Amino acid sequence: MCGIVGFTGKQSAAPVLLDGLKKLEYRGYDSAGISVMDGKKIAVSKVTGRIANLCEKTQDGTNVSGFTGIGHTRWATHGAPTEENAHPHLSNDGRFAVVHNGIIENYLILREELKQAGYHFDSETDTEVIVHLVEMYYRGDVKEALMRTANRLQGSYALGVICSEQPGKIYAMREASPLILGVGVGENFFASDVTALVSHTRNVIYLEDGEFAELSGDSIRIFDLSGQQIHKKITRIMWDVQAAEKGGYEHFMLKEIMEQPAAVKATIAPRIKGGKICFDELSVTQEDLKGISQIIITACGSAYYAGCAGKYALERLTRIPVQVELASELRYSDPLIDEQTLLIVISQSGETADTIAAMRECKARGAKTLAIVNVVGSTVSTIADYTVYTWAGPEIAVATTKGYTTQVAVLYMLAIYVAEKLGRIGEETADYIKTLQALPRRIQQAIDMNPSIPAFAKKYHKSKALFFIGRNTDYATALEGALKMKEISYLHSEAYAAGELKHGTIALIEEHQPIIALCCNPSIMEKTLSNIVEVKSRGAEVLALTFRNNQKILSVADDLLFIPETDALFAGVIEIVPLQLLAYYVAKENNCDIDKPKNLAKSVTVE
Ligand code: BG6
Repeated sequence: MCGIVGFTGKQSAAPVLLDGLKKLEYRGYDSAGISVMDGKKIAVSKVTGRIANLCEKTQDGTNVSGFTGIGHTRWATHGAPTEENAHPHLSNDGRFAVVHNGIIENYLILREELKQAGYHFDSETDTEVIVHLVEMYYRGDVKEALMRTANRLQGSYALGVICSEQPGKIYAMREASPLILGVGVGENFFASDVTALVSHTRNVIYLEDGEFAELSGDSIRIFDLSGQQIHKKITRIMWDVQAAEKGGYEHFMLKEIMEQPAAVKATIAPRIKGGKICFDELSVTQEDLKGISQIIITACGSAYYAGCAGKYALERLTRIPVQVELASELRYSDPLIDEQTLLIVISQSGETADTIAAMRECKARGAKTLAIVNVVGSTVSTIADYTVYTWAGPEIAVATTKGYTTQVAVLYMLAIYVAEKLGRIGEETADYIKTLQALPRRIQQAIDMNPSIPAFAKKYHKSKALFFIGRNTDYATALEGALKMKEISYLHSEAYAAGELKHGTIALIEEHQPIIALCCNPSIMEKTLSNIVEVKSRGAEVLALTFRNNQKILSVADDLLFIPETDALFAGVIEIVPLQLLAYYVAKENNCDIDKPKNLAKSVTVE
């Protein structure tokens, strides 16, 4: 995933572009560049590494003159993170510069064709074919050149283009990658997401696939690929710049953990009306729901584990079989999908390539698709038959926290919504809804009940490995807890169904091996208790996560984490919180780059 920005107006473009790129650095940060037009000349500055290097090279943009420009921060997909491969890419005649987020799947064929036509390439990127196509098709009208170029491209792109013969203008074009226009006063912008715009303007326009725009300081014109000008509504962004900044916390991840009560409340509250769950965005009838024979949930990473956590409530209440499938597996498994399948696609970014591919595969086989995404206008949301947004606000830390808990919260609501519409639950609905409404408060309690987490982090941060064990709903949360730990602290962490320990894993338990045991589901607590005794008898040290008054667990565990008592069916969003905090503080002890863990990206838009 990469980030692109564009600006045109009356102030110097370079500082505005650099500021925007800093806000998008979480989207990719192995190289960066800006291109600014000064009269008829296009200047380019590119670096490897972080935006800070670009700021240094351009003296915070003061040594680059011009009021119109584009910028890019890269997460390498085609070609190593080098200066040559960094964007913007220039046409051979120097009249065009292009920045791109996405993947051009047919770039090799285009590259050969363009070479045959006499164009030379400076980089190994797929993007560079775009700028040469634009040059090849340009006959004085950039819009025409863009439309002809778009007809040749296969794959995904959010493009930014400037042309030295069109001073004061920037062009933006979108296909299957997010691209938003910022509407200013005497100035206009584009960016890969709103966080790069909101400090300049709260008025935005979400470009959709197959649309492109011509922006000058005083006008924005939007077209479809037939060249027809179209009108788009302006959306007003309500959250403020602070929402996209750290808000006083040392890391975005900690800020986003602390935002979870508000994020879950923002996601749940508007959907509870008159004692019922209401999804205005779902126009489904009881007949539609009766036609569902199976539910398949598909996603990647933490979103997949959110599916695992939500499955129990969905299946228990709706009595419809639910399977949770990794998107990267589902897409190639020749899945048994038909018109009676409801595919629930979970994605924070809405741009994960494997998730999109699995969704397209299942849709092609007849599945009805319902997306749970956090980014408005993201690609997943444009493909789905129905989209339910998690209103978590921008999530900047690569390791998701509020994205995960709001995804699980939506699954809980869907479980009640579908079961109630199918008549599978009656007066108990009111109790379930009351439990949901209490979740934000319970999450806050789970944060407040565990002041000892930094001390546990000091105790365990040098462990060779950490095992997370649990059963049923506890097992689903253990999976996400282990992923959080490994992705930000780099400690080897694995989650095991507690009942599975005796079938192999217990061979790894040695003296002082830390085990995190989740004991928040009373229906199987006794069984997990016996697993704790099993591992302790082999020398393990057990950090148990349970309720305050759970004497049996308290009597055997070495250390304790607590959550407030809640119906286990809906406790996943609560019990993950102490594990998120534990991972955070262990990573801190290990001096890890918590918001941008090595090798990871916020969303992997490639296979
Ligand atoms: C990974 C992220 O790259 O992608 C995870 O690091 C995330 O945090 C996973 O859960 C899926 O991303 P998304 O945007 O589809 O939820």
